[in-house]
Amino acid sequence: MKRVKIGIAGLGRLGRTHAQNLAFKIPQAELTAACSIVDAELDYAKNELGITELYKDFSEMVNKADIDAVVIVTPSTEHPWQIEAALKAGKQVFCEKPLAVTIEECKATEKIVEQYPDQIVMLGFMRRFDPSYAYAKEKIKAGAIGQPYLVKATGIDPEADCQSLIDSGFIPKSGGIFIDMAVHDIDLMRWFLEADAKEVYALGCSFKHPEFKRDGDCETGCAMFEFENGAMGQIHVGRTAPHGYHIETEIVGTEGSIRISPVPAKNLAILYDTNGVVQECVRNFPERFSESYVLELEEFINCVIHKTKPSVTVYDGTKATQMAFAAKAAFENHVVTPVEH
Ligand code: NAI
Repeated sequence: MKRVKIGIAGLGRLGRTHAQNLAFKIPQAELTAACSIVDAELDYAKNELGITELYKDFSEMVNKADIDAVVIVTPSTEHPWQIEAALKAGKQVFCEKPLAVTIEECKATEKIVEQYPDQIVMLGFMRRFDPSYAYAKEKIKAGAIGQPYLVKATGIDPEADCQSLIDSGFIPKSGGIFIDMAVHDIDLMRWFLEADAKEVYALGCSFKHPEFKRDGDCETGCAMFEFENGAMGQIHVGRTAPHGYHIETEIVGTEGSIRISPVPAKNLAILYDTNGVVQECVRNFPERFSESYVLELEEFINCVIHKTKPSVTVYDGTKATQMAFAAKAAFENHVVTPVEH
């Protein structure tokens, strides 16, 4: 079978994971080109991944490289114009979340994507591909918990990474915790409830690191959404989990409930020692979602090969962004805020 030739843009924190997966873990993909504005990252692509077509300019890559598709893992501000340039050059597109950093840009990008109905644009909401989340979705579809009416989603980054986040000056540039972190939980809520949110109230606090409050953000945020079908969504996002990377989700329905990783365990091993009975926690998102990153790109490659449409679209990107901005506004203004559609 012909392999899909890919060019990757961005080889930073997540880009390297995607690049390694494409180069070594997905047999139907062939990573033939790479683009980055950083020379050291292009050296990495050449030396570690064996890529020979290297570009510093994204437009040049999509127009000159021998590729069928691009995987965009650049800063979120670059996504809209890079999606457009790639589509214009006739390429299939996988783009990391978020679609864009404003609702206006999301909407404008939807319009551009609609001009290329025969091409694929898939967005990287990788949690949907996590085997446990996918299993929960299948169970819900099969009626195992009746009608789902509440999703409780917790996402807390490790305290071990928090100080470096503060020191790097990331917080004021992050868009705030509801935009930066909650968007994954928001996407899951929409997916499980198969509904869009109507309004939201949100609060935040910063007890451990006052720098978050100083920068107009919060280290812990809570939001409560009401959905158009009357269902509810509750989010707890934070930056200070002492035990590791805590991602936990519960979906409650009329006939039962499903909980995903109430103990965010590293593996199935349990250590019995002088500390008692200890189960270690996953440390970070690359560890927790390593399988999902491979599976989502496999779906993208399969869509390209079989000319089918991906399950995660730009519209999902816009909807999740709209809900995240409404939560941010609710937190900042202390009022129940409607979700724009
Ligand atoms: P990063 O800052 O570590 O890496 C960004 C990369 O883009 C760097 O290689 C940089 O050289 C390159 N770059 C910047 N401007 C460019 C341009 N104009 N053309 C080509 N390359 C350019 O960022 P990180 O953390 O890897 O995030 C990248 C994207 O992935 C963001 O949109 C972020 O929201 C998303 N992300 C998604 C995650 C998920 O779990 N789905 C997790 C982490 C990030």
